[in-house]
Amino acid sequence: MRMMLSIWLVTLGFLATTSALDNGLALTPPMGWLSWERYRCITDCVNFPDECISENLFFRTAKLMATEGYLEAGYEYIIIDDCWLSKERDSEGRLQPDPDRFQVELKLFQIMYIQWGVDYIKVDGCNSNLEDMNTGYAEFGSYLNKTGRPIVYSCSLPFYQEISGMKVNYELVKNSCNCGATGPGHWNDPDMLLIGNYGLSYDQSKIQMAIWAILASPLIMSTELRDMKREYKDILQNKGVIAVNQDPLGIQGKKIYSKDDVQIWTRPVSPKVGDEYSYAVAIVSWRTDGYPYPVSVALQDIGLNNTNGYVFEDLYDSQATPQMLSPDSELNARVNPTGVVFFRATALDTSNPQLHL
Ligand SMILES: *[C@@H]1O[C@H](CO)[C@@H](O)[C@H](O)[C@H]1NC(C)=O
Ligand SMILES: *[C@@H]1O[C@H](CO)[C@@H](O)[C@H](O)[C@H]1NC(C)=O
Repeated sequence: MRMMLSIWLVTLGFLATTSALDNGLALTPPMGWLSWERYRCITDCVNFPDECISENLFFRTAKLMATEGYLEAGYEYIIIDDCWLSKERDSEGRLQPDPDRFQVELKLFQIMYIQWGVDYIKVDGCNSNLEDMNTGYAEFGSYLNKTGRPIVYSCSLPFYQEISGMKVNYELVKNSCNCGATGPGHWNDPDMLLIGNYGLSYDQSKIQMAIWAILASPLIMSTELRDMKREYKDILQNKGVIAVNQDPLGIQGKKIYSKDDVQIWTRPVSPKVGDEYSYAVAIVSWRTDGYPYPVSVALQDIGLNNTNGYVFEDLYDSQATPQMLSPDSELNARVNPTGVVFFRATALDTSNPQLHL
């Protein structure tokens, strides 16, 4: 498991770089855990000993990631995010963690990031100058490169530029960061998974995991892993859904159908048969009426045109029998209110008969 660190962008530089980011990392979307959405800036360890940003929280989580199957499922990074710092630097001007909340490992932290063994840095953009972001993020990235240590570089500038109405230069983001226009090494990041927290129902949790898989987004959980209910853990560790997210082709999917508050999202995935891809297909309902809504659509109407057809597997229902469908067949599903039915449609090849049912 890798320890990582998130820092907040406070200084901005002026050096622009045009070279593409090539740190050899994040060839599939990064997976891990980050404290922010669940633990924010809780620093009161007297009243909230289990929730405060402290070494206890990170060691406990690291252990649970290993013992509860998350590491095996692919989640490897632990990201600290904000509120770990002491308000003062050390005598040599280096950043240091708050000594009351990071005691045992203080020594480990009292050295530079690189010596800490940091594998992932998220640079947030709040309270910084939007105009300077393009150059500042690029400059920080060039310093990371100069360290010689491969470090995943997650940049939040598109979010801050977009919410302020600025046009985001995604080409620049992709050249400096491990995020931006999607492909191996640079992924669009709609942010943390809240599955297992308070806000999402069981069905809504399935939607989040499915859409993050379709979008080839980093899977960064921000939730309490201790006493996680079985059904939420099953969503977070769903092998079929994670395989879609981590598909080696690295093509981002998109919404291709929307009607009566039902959307269909598809993503081309491997294996490719001739010119035809296999697909992940998520049928998402935002309806709030109280019954599973019937949806029926011909495959060719959602772009699935492989003449030899597809085998459809329901990724959230391992008991369901796979179905074989041709481009003119109807795909039928019943979708729960604010819920999803999520398939992997493997393209069939007549020269590959074992795939036939
Ligand atoms: C630094 O950038 C060069 C040129 O893109 C690349 O080949 C090298 O792997 C990078 N090194 C690190 C540590 O990211
Ligand atoms: C799939 O087939 C339909 C019907 O023949 C056609 O309208 C559509 O453009 C095709 N889609 C793709 C992606 O080739």
